[in-house]
Amino acid sequence: MIDANPSAKELAGEGAFIWLGKAREWERQTGKKAIHFEIGEPDFRTPDNIVDAAVKALHAGKTKYTPSNGIRELREAVAEYLGKKRSITIDPDCVVIGPGAKPLINALFQVIIDHTKPNTALIMPDPGYGPYIDNAKYYGAKIYRVPMEERNDWRYDVNVLRQVVESVPAGMDKVLLTISPSNPTGGILKKEDWDVVEELAKKHDMLVVSDEIYDDFVFEGEHTSILSRPGMMERTVLVHGASKTWAMTGWRLGWMVLPKHLAPTVGKMIGNIASCTAEFTQYAGIEAVRGPQGEVAKMKAEYRARRDYAVNAFKDMGCYCALPGGSFYAYPNIRKIMDARGFKSELDLCNALLQEKGVVCLPGPAFGPSGKDHIRLSLVSSMDDLKEGMKRIKEFAGF
Ligand SMILES: Cc1ncc(COP(=O)(O)O)c(C=O)c1O
Repeated sequence: MIDANPSAKELAGEGAFIWLGKAREWERQTGKKAIHFEIGEPDFRTPDNIVDAAVKALHAGKTKYTPSNGIRELREAVAEYLGKKRSITIDPDCVVIGPGAKPLINALFQVIIDHTKPNTALIMPDPGYGPYIDNAKYYGAKIYRVPMEERNDWRYDVNVLRQVVESVPAGMDKVLLTISPSNPTGGILKKEDWDVVEELAKKHDMLVVSDEIYDDFVFEGEHTSILSRPGMMERTVLVHGASKTWAMTGWRLGWMVLPKHLAPTVGKMIGNIASCTAEFTQYAGIEAVRGPQGEVAKMKAEYRARRDYAVNAFKDMGCYCALPGGSFYAYPNIRKIMDARGFKSELDLCNALLQEKGVVCLPGPAFGPSGKDHIRLSLVSSMDDLKEGMKRIKEFAGF
């Protein structure tokens, strides 16, 4: 009987979804409600103007297939929206729409990794969003991890970045992934970091994949994008979408801005995966990027308040938590709790926290080895739930 191929057997799957499953099972067995800090899913409702646009589109019969790379109107709207924020002009032909950013990441890696010869290096932040690793490995790339620095608010030590890039054998195709604001740490790259990314990308002829899906949730100052730098548009793939900014995770709507030579092929590949993105969802996307943004500002203010609460609550327990500059995650160092309770791993801690207190967090190493001694909290529950969750974590720690 045919079995899953060896590469498929190696797939890790995304930790957040695995823990969501565990939490649901715990809720089923105990009849209690867990406090969910595991999945990166905004608790807010999609703003009404977007829902209304989708309903209107449904009634207007926008229920058909569309071109694989998305309807022209949405590609134009996205190009305008992202371009304005980055002070650049984006060609709508460089925009590819997909049913979420995640399938687009899959399509991109299928396109850029030559599976017939193992010759691609993915240089990525550690810790970093897991699906990049699974996809890259599956299609035959080799992963080079750049440890991010907790004491530097989870930014690069640029010397380490240089060393890792220079350790990749000459002749390999190099892809440099950046995630800023970061999932899982909330860390943000600063101008000095981007200077080095740009310099290395140009020197080593690398493709930069810049995941900026949390760009609307930057708490201090403005989001900076590598795409705005001269000469970078030709060698950068921007990963973005509607899930986080407009609380649209379940709609499945994402997009990429690609160099002109890659966009048509990624458009074809996403066509092979999904045919297209639901038509009425794409119309909702036009309203998301072109409509009023007041709800986004409210969500951002709330995420910021939750961030401050969580960071201080960990601090009160004597656990360091670097202040996340953006996103809606916190990534505290919980070594002290592990020692106090005698846990051998972050996984053991998270399992016990769920069983004893009904609080669901992700083990830090699910995002890479530099996540040792950490857990990730998604701050996507109400302030009341957050307070209750932090109270339970404190009781659990015994401090
Ligand atoms: C960094 C990052 N990129 C991409 C995605 C994919 O989002 P979606 O597929 O919902 O567009 C996520 C979702 O958690 C993420 O955290």
